[in-house]
Amino acid sequence: MTDPALAALAPDYVRRIAPYVPGKPVEELARELGLDAATIVKLASNENPRGPGAKVRAAIATATDELTRYPDGNGFALKAALAARLGVPAGQIVLGNGSNDILELVSLAFLEPGDEAVFSQHAFAVYPLATQARGAHGIEVPARDHGHDLKAMRAAVSARTRVVFVANPNNPTGTWLAPEDVHAFLATMPDDVVVVLDEAYNEYLEPSHRADSVAWIAAYPNLIVSRTFSKAHGLAALRVGYGVMDATVADLLNRVRQPFNVNAFAQAAAVAALTDDAYVEESRALNREGLAQLYAGLDALGIPYVRSYANFVLAKVGAAGRINVSLLKQGVIVRPVANYGLPEWLRITVGLPGENERFLTALARALAQ
Ligand SMILES: Cc1ncc(COP(=O)(O)O)c(C=O)c1O
Repeated sequence: MTDPALAALAPDYVRRIAPYVPGKPVEELARELGLDAATIVKLASNENPRGPGAKVRAAIATATDELTRYPDGNGFALKAALAARLGVPAGQIVLGNGSNDILELVSLAFLEPGDEAVFSQHAFAVYPLATQARGAHGIEVPARDHGHDLKAMRAAVSARTRVVFVANPNNPTGTWLAPEDVHAFLATMPDDVVVVLDEAYNEYLEPSHRADSVAWIAAYPNLIVSRTFSKAHGLAALRVGYGVMDATVADLLNRVRQPFNVNAFAQAAAVAALTDDAYVEESRALNREGLAQLYAGLDALGIPYVRSYANFVLAKVGAAGRINVSLLKQGVIVRPVANYGLPEWLRITVGLPGENERFLTALARALAQ
């Protein structure tokens, strides 16, 4: 912050926020290193590598005709499609500018200075950010085998805890919690603590690993399930996600959200995406093969990794900073995760087969240097 007097206008807890570091954009690396952007492989932000499906492209083209109008602030069509899919009334759904928005809305609605929010070590970076932005305290619970230690998280809940964030699968570790364990965790949670079950990678789970967590809301009205169109649905650029919750909780979140938080293209594309189950299934299959390819390559290089239930792999490369610089010079962008307390690790998003190969070849070269 270059002007201390200006910076002092903000509360101390805002000034102490460590800004979110996004994956490096392809164009930025191209500019920095004088590389041809077309040759760069980006495996840094857990995006779907396939590009949008035909139904989504057509929906966006049609939505262009309404560009001069505000979008539907209540997201009627998208909520109706989600309600039909999930078996809940539309009034239990809140749309977000990405599911990130839902996480922010939860903190805005439920946290105030002095409150506590509980989350795991090595969990999604937005939980501490959203917590601190309200002047609340983040309680980071040590991870177990890189994943959430639900018992320890329950023990960390105090009288001041208002929100608990659980990511399943978790980013950046790719770890997964069995649904029965999450359900048992919910059962022990006090009624006055909101539990956010962040299922951003849900569609990448094999069906046998998925549970109807939305159905748990009837028994646990303090549960919010958040999901996104950014990952398996392939709409990261549009920013659209949603939360499913008790209607009273939805009403609270709607009070603190921007009136037009989800743009018209995003709404139209998401409705179209919900009609294209084949796209998601193909994406899951491609991801399964990509994970196997990355595991085999990492095994061959003797690099340990955490088995992933999502569309990325956390790999222990050792000198991650140096390896990352070498990868960048070779036109491969992955994600360093030192800011997640994992200084020796890199997170690699599963790409297309050729992209995965490019990464593995570049990694071999980086390790040999
Ligand atoms: C665990 C988790 N939750 C939420 C998000 C937010 O994604 P979006 O805002 O694109 O829905 C991400 C994005 O990487 C994530 O990894």
